[in-house]
Amino acid sequence: MCGIVAATARREVSEILLEGLRRLEYRGYDSAGMALIDNERNLLLHKRQGKVAELEQAQQLEPKLGCIGIAHTRWATHGVPSAANAHPHLSGERVAVVHNGIIENHGLLREELQADGYEFFSGTDTEVVVHLLHRQLAGGDSLLQAMQATVQRLQGAYALAAVDTAHPDEVVATRAGSPLVVGVGIGENFLASDQLALRQVTDRFIYLEEGDMVQMSATSLRILDVSGAPVARDMKRLSAAAESTGLGDYEHYMLKEIYEQPRALAATVPAVGAHDIADDVFGSAAAAIFDQVQAIQIVACGTSYHAGMVARYWLEDLAGIPCAVEVASEFRYRKRVQHPGTLLVTVSQSGETADTLAALRDATDDEFIASLVIANVDHSSLVRESDLVFLTQAGAEIGVASTKAFTTQLVAFLMLTLVLGRRRRLSAQGAAELLAALHELPDCVEQVLLLDEAIEQMASQFILKHHALFLGRGIQYPIALEGALKLKEISYIHAEAYPAGELKHGPLALVDADMPVVAVAPGDELMEKLKSNIEEVRSRGAELYVFADRDAGFVDEPRVHVLQMPMCAEVLKPIVYTVALQLLAYHVAVQKGTDVDKPRNLAKSVTVE
Ligand code: G6P
Repeated sequence: MCGIVAATARREVSEILLEGLRRLEYRGYDSAGMALIDNERNLLLHKRQGKVAELEQAQQLEPKLGCIGIAHTRWATHGVPSAANAHPHLSGERVAVVHNGIIENHGLLREELQADGYEFFSGTDTEVVVHLLHRQLAGGDSLLQAMQATVQRLQGAYALAAVDTAHPDEVVATRAGSPLVVGVGIGENFLASDQLALRQVTDRFIYLEEGDMVQMSATSLRILDVSGAPVARDMKRLSAAAESTGLGDYEHYMLKEIYEQPRALAATVPAVGAHDIADDVFGSAAAAIFDQVQAIQIVACGTSYHAGMVARYWLEDLAGIPCAVEVASEFRYRKRVQHPGTLLVTVSQSGETADTLAALRDATDDEFIASLVIANVDHSSLVRESDLVFLTQAGAEIGVASTKAFTTQLVAFLMLTLVLGRRRRLSAQGAAELLAALHELPDCVEQVLLLDEAIEQMASQFILKHHALFLGRGIQYPIALEGALKLKEISYIHAEAYPAGELKHGPLALVDADMPVVAVAPGDELMEKLKSNIEEVRSRGAELYVFADRDAGFVDEPRVHVLQMPMCAEVLKPIVYTVALQLLAYHVAVQKGTDVDKPRNLAKSVTVE
């Protein structure tokens, strides 16, 4: 999704801006641009549809240099992807703006500004912001005053950064609903929508709060809170190791991140005793809150939602706690009724997904006793706004299709199951078994990675297909959903997942020789029922790809291809089987030649509704 980078320094910053944009590419975008103010106070602009590489090429052919600038990668919402709609947007050749988010009242503002003589050159909602700023500046405001007056007129979500040739040393920026972080340098200051964009220039960051406004030059930094009062925000120093983002020897980030899972999973299990996990791994207030929990409501989007669906089985089965799971975009707009004593659990890799954040903000004290977030990014909005926090230790995830974030979220949920379960039906021995299984998990995942070549060969059977059906039962149903999501996201093959028992109620009509069927079939209590479902599709001529335990009794036969999975504890199977399905999707996409890490139309962090 859209990315912002800004810099004010005593050195030339165009390369810093471009490097920042390159580091944000993983978030998904369709055009890019940057504006600099040169030493003669000219506003210089490059905008290109397509990749940051196109912008770099434009810069090589016609260098635009300056010590202050703003830059952007755009993911189209209002107006098609094009150079004209790319940011920065300009007004009167003096002021430039970049924007993440959506200005909901842009239609009315556009009419008002047009009536005032402003001409519009793009189809974006953002352009109203730059003309509003210009009108204020023309009336004699400072850039800061102009921004303060402008945001009073805006409805919606935004992170904004602006430069003005009449104030050639400063960037003014603000956030409401979209993230923004200040990078503090030595004799220079930076801004970005994601700290990853600035790791090459600083390790010191200030995370802005909702409504904060920043006025920064190379040598000064002022932050004002929502009331306009100067405010001191904490500065965090991040360790270099926390976010190693190189590709290493891997061809794609997705593959690297699949292979990082044994390490990430091990790191996510806190150092614990043999029998229990301390409540405070979820925060210092956790014990008092967990004592009151009577029910759980999980809210998330995308892959994180699938983690919640898996968790529901564990929380109800092992911990004996009623649990509901819902996608955030539905949850937030529904009139809800909650059980007394319900804990709200949000799940998010980025901690910034707009719908999940809105769901948290919308939740009231009457509905929930407290909120817990499972997130992968420290200091993210969900982390800062939740009562309890569990940080997964996946490390930076760059591939748009989530892999290691998902499996580490499942580990977090197993630990939540353990601490809540110990207050209910989980015995000390049950807890000890769960912990022992968690410690075995990295090894089990290593064994799945050894199947990579076999899965790669299997993948070649999918590349000419247009559709695929994934089947699972019980706790493997959400894993089938996740396998189908991975395949459609990166290979563009239409893939659907069904609980196998629902086959006869519709999807069986689609099954023929052109429809590969993937069955997630560990040898569990539903095995025999799943076998019957598999026969139903086989007898319709489908080609079957069965991921099954070694002892589940499946063997290769005509039109049935079996991948024998390593043996592991029952509770680990959703995680272990997921890794195999990630590899399947990955290899299908590579063999089809799609852009694995940055699939078309998708974004890593969805910060607009
Ligand atoms: C986007 C990403 C998905 C992710 C979802 C939720 O759609 O492409 O990979 O699962 O957002 O993101 P979150 O950061 O909240 O987990």
